[in-house]
Amino acid sequence: MTSSSQPGPPPPDRASVPTHRLVVLVSGGGSNLGALLDAHSDPAYGARVVGVVSDRPGIAALDRARDAGVPTAVVALRDFPDRATWDRALTEAVGVFSPDTVVAAGFMKLVGATFLGRFGGRTVNTHPALLPSFPGAHGVRDALAYGVKVSGCSVIVVDEGVDAGPIIAQETVPVADDDTEETLHERIKVVERRLLVDVVGRIAREGLSVEGRRARLGRGPGR
Ligand code: GRF
Repeated sequence: MTSSSQPGPPPPDRASVPTHRLVVLVSGGGSNLGALLDAHSDPAYGARVVGVVSDRPGIAALDRARDAGVPTAVVALRDFPDRATWDRALTEAVGVFSPDTVVAAGFMKLVGATFLGRFGGRTVNTHPALLPSFPGAHGVRDALAYGVKVSGCSVIVVDEGVDAGPIIAQETVPVADDDTEETLHERIKVVERRLLVDVVGRIAREGLSVEGRRARLGRGPGR
């Protein structure tokens, strides 16, 4: 406590600290979205989900967003004459929320050139396998069919390839002899949610630097 009559600098006003804005892309159950929504309630997390965009209506992820009071939009491919037009509409729908980072969390569509032109380098994706092995929509099934003993999850920067962008973080998950696609995926998803929440929070608080294929959390030396 000080008794000085000279007022010091005003205390930092939490409300005026710009929060890192997240838009989350979803296609299904939205448990990864749910984990981000749990995390964002803590101001120390440094990021807030400001919008959720889905490529299909009526999914549980949209209910989770609405329950949390987060605005949603649906941009379904079938409502557009071709992928390029859909991609432009998706870009616009995401752009409405002015995101700092876009998080594809169980989003089962590839974004296109318009989207990457605007949000490339600041869109991340989570994948339930250890990339570059087993990219694509059936990563868990493919890893199991191959007979791997260790799988896991990867958080990557989205580029024009299929789960091909620079890897930000990975964690391993052991494969059990009696695993099915469902049991292995559920076990991976427990780790995946924690990893995604951790990575996205660190991007918000520390930044992300990408040089070629090397992605690093933090601003990097000399920045
Ligand atoms: C996650 O494992 C994600 O990596 C994969 O689909 C799952 C989506 O889960 N592409 P949810 O919708 O977040 O529950």
